[in-house]
Amino acid sequence: MSVQARDLAVEFAYRFGRLPTVSRAPGRVNLIGEHTDYNDGFVMPAALEFATLTAAAPRPDRRLRVYSMIMDEARELDLDSPPEAGDGDWSDYVFGVALMLEESGRRLCGADLVIWTDVPIGSGLSSSAALEVSCAHALLTAADLPFEAIETAKICQRAENDFVGMRCGVMDQYVSCRGFAGHALLIDCRSLASRNVAIAPNVKLLIANSSVRHQHAGGEYNARREACEEGVRLLRRHLGPIKALRDVTPDQLYAKRRKLPELIYRRCRHIVTENARVLEAERALGASDFVACGRAMNASHVSMRDDFEITCPEVDMLVGLAQTVRGVYGSRMTGGGFGGCTISLIETSAVDKASQILTDGYRIATGLDADIFVCAPSDGASLIPV
Ligand code: GLA
Repeated sequence: MSVQARDLAVEFAYRFGRLPTVSRAPGRVNLIGEHTDYNDGFVMPAALEFATLTAAAPRPDRRLRVYSMIMDEARELDLDSPPEAGDGDWSDYVFGVALMLEESGRRLCGADLVIWTDVPIGSGLSSSAALEVSCAHALLTAADLPFEAIETAKICQRAENDFVGMRCGVMDQYVSCRGFAGHALLIDCRSLASRNVAIAPNVKLLIANSSVRHQHAGGEYNARREACEEGVRLLRRHLGPIKALRDVTPDQLYAKRRKLPELIYRRCRHIVTENARVLEAERALGASDFVACGRAMNASHVSMRDDFEITCPEVDMLVGLAQTVRGVYGSRMTGGGFGGCTISLIETSAVDKASQILTDGYRIATGLDADIFVCAPSDGASLIPV
């Protein structure tokens, strides 16, 4: 990591003629709890070792000059005359965060920024949150303002909701700000409290990237959110003043199933059963009951596939392959859906065999290459030595 930070600092010095600080913010993988975050529910992600690095140094004026090494593109923005809307590209995440930090009352100074990442982009591993949080950390550092993890996560989420136009929840930004090495985080997305959940050394989190991303994923994501909101509106008539699907138990929902259109009922069923599965998975991991944790993960995948309808044949294939391997406790799609990655909870000794079976089986079935790697949960955002 320090070599990458040094490379970034050299690039920065070459472009801007002085030395930067370097902020790091990780991508994430979610063990369980999909689409529950914007329903005030529970999620259990871990921060990845893959991260976005932002090199930054303050400027005496209020201009932001940003260069992305990945895109090989530069952009500028004047904080004193912000645009109404973004350009519809990567710079929206950077400038959206800057504008929302200012809107929250934090007065920024101008800054030069150089950005680099090794989070696979568009793979459901939260490259967007890693970009937002690393820029937020860099801009706050440049302005000599404190980095408050949870506040920053909410500001980055607002940038994505209101400037980028993706109505995401807070999970990705939260864990990118707050992740804890060697642990997953059980996040209560209503209270925004979290608990660290240790990943025992005899199990690993194996990630398989399907390398497919279906079109319209953003629109489908927002549509799922609307279906949940519609469910809450309809259920309120029967259950009283509930705020979110978090307030509904599986039994209550089942009792009211005839009051809801069938599709809305299935969308809601995914959320209320998923919340219960997250808590069960946390309990099971804490008790080293990997069989029970894996069972919850497998059930989560079925629920995403059949009720929430956010999986696709390629990720179903990877999950199915993983579930055939001895030593794999459970496997499911991770992230927003419509492609992206799977996560499997697996005995350490079975990693090599499972990787082989996933790689070969996926190629035979789809003609595609799946990238396979073991997740080593990392810490959340921080400055790193150059
Ligand atoms: C995306 C969003 C998150 C969350 C997941 C699904 O990653 O950014 O807020 O809703 O999808 O669990």
